[in-house]
Amino acid sequence: MTIELWTSVDRYVEAALIEPDPVLDAALEASAAAGLPQIQVSASQGKFLHLLARIRGAASILELGTLGAYSTIWLARGLPPGGRLITLELDPKHASVAKENLRRAELADKVEVQVGKALELLPELKQKGQGPFDFVFIDADKQNLAEYFGWAMELSTKGSVIVVDNVVRKGAVLDEQSTDANVQGVRRLNDKLKQLTTVRATTIQTVGSKGYDGFTLALVD
Ligand code: SAH
Ligand code: DHB
Ligand code: MG
Repeated sequence: MTIELWTSVDRYVEAALIEPDPVLDAALEASAAAGLPQIQVSASQGKFLHLLARIRGAASILELGTLGAYSTIWLARGLPPGGRLITLELDPKHASVAKENLRRAELADKVEVQVGKALELLPELKQKGQGPFDFVFIDADKQNLAEYFGWAMELSTKGSVIVVDNVVRKGAVLDEQSTDANVQGVRRLNDKLKQLTTVRATTIQTVGSKGYDGFTLALVD
């Protein structure tokens, strides 16, 4: 079993289940042309997030880590009329590509891209009385996952859904002694989840065109 096979199955699933989408294709092209890292969710993962947000009936969504707004577009398209999405991005260049992609997707009026460090923007959101968010997608740097999850809880309410990307890391998450800050970030998140009594969570391992990784899915209650 190799990434070539997983990628072929992703292509098959895309052809079978995911309608051709010139706007999403254009977002990927513009992001690649601008030299952004190509680490966005896959199409099947993007649609998965879109479906989860719709299943939740999410009218307010918070995203950490915009990149070129590929996942943002999938999520924002799941919003009902009047719904809003706020997405946080550290890199001004990523944010500017994202804004252009959102404009092309005709989502600029529903989505606000905030530029800065998530750890600085999140307390500001709370202070300004933003939220509660029905759905949070955590996909920025992985070192601060535990802190991000804490803020996601602060900005959530009973019934909110929180999804965290990249929490398996080719199985590296098993290594207690890992010197990889990303791995330690995931392990600290799991330590925190074990302690929190107001959230139910699980992790689903994934394979596909992005390799071997996983999502954590959490429900606030
Ligand atoms: N969600 C995107 C991919 C995000 S990649 C998608 O699937 O389409 C991770 C992004 O997080 C990068 O654009 C990176 O610049 C941003 N990032 C990294 N550290 C950050 C921080 N401290 N605060 C906010 N964004 C950060
Ligand atoms: C990386 C970040 C991501 O959010 C992702 O889905 C894949 C890779 C990275 O930083 O390498
Ligand atoms: Mg990711």
